[in-house]
Amino acid sequence: MARITASVYTSHVPAIGAALDMGKTQEPYWQKVFEGYDYGKQWMKDNKPDVVFLVFNDHATAFSLEMIPTFAIGTAAEYQPADEGWGPRPVPKVYGHPALSAHIAQSVIQQDFDLTLVNKMDVDHGLTVPLSLMCGQPDAWPCPVIPFAVNVVQYPVPSGQRCYNLGKAIRKAVESFDEDLNVHIWGTGGMSHQLQGPRAGLINKEFDNAFLDKLIDDPQAAAAIPHIDYVREAGSEGIELVMWLIARGAMDDANGGGKPIVKKRFYHVPASNTAVGHLILENP
Ligand code: DHB
Ligand code: FE
Repeated sequence: MARITASVYTSHVPAIGAALDMGKTQEPYWQKVFEGYDYGKQWMKDNKPDVVFLVFNDHATAFSLEMIPTFAIGTAAEYQPADEGWGPRPVPKVYGHPALSAHIAQSVIQQDFDLTLVNKMDVDHGLTVPLSLMCGQPDAWPCPVIPFAVNVVQYPVPSGQRCYNLGKAIRKAVESFDEDLNVHIWGTGGMSHQLQGPRAGLINKEFDNAFLDKLIDDPQAAAAIPHIDYVREAGSEGIELVMWLIARGAMDDANGGGKPIVKKRFYHVPASNTAVGHLILENP
């Protein structure tokens, strides 16, 4: 059967992608950000997954504001990097895993989560920046990726608790796929940031670090954080953090197993307008 062996969490700041694409990683401002991912890049090579299930949010790129699915699973064979206004990022095409996607859709919908099926989608910085941070600049991404898009852009957004429970359902789905696959699940977006209005530029280091503590040691408590607390404490775009709970809910200890091993924890301010957070958790 397929198994989820690890979860990865990371911010997805678009300027990080631009810094990488324009060869600025050694500039002092960016050096500290990329240093935080040196471990993760080696870890990806040493623990190469067969598939990455990548939870991210679309930023009104693929869906626009005309149609906004709360949870959308990519079922396509491939996805092109999106043009977000400056041309598509010069990164590899993303290959999917249609058989596993279709299986997860079937299983998760039968577990009463209504997913939108997406047979064609361009993927924006929400998906490509985490891939770049964890894989660098390869000619091809190391494995197939299943994009899973969550609406955190237009209210109403799903609660952390619902995201956490969805992670459990995704785990069940993966474990009932009849092929030996090593699957990693990624939760992306966050940490604290606000891009608009009078509080633009808001960063809350205390909230972010408390969130990382909770996510590691007491994910059920992290899941209970109401959405208004994210917005108040972590800024309007801090709500992206609920996506991390989907990945966390798929780990062993959320499903009766043992606590995860923390392989990496990184926190850095600033990157553009955002606090960068990153975790790697392995199942025991
Ligand atoms: C920034 C962060 C984001 O999460 C995003 O989607 C766009 C911009 C920023 O910090 O600039
Ligand atoms: Fe974002």
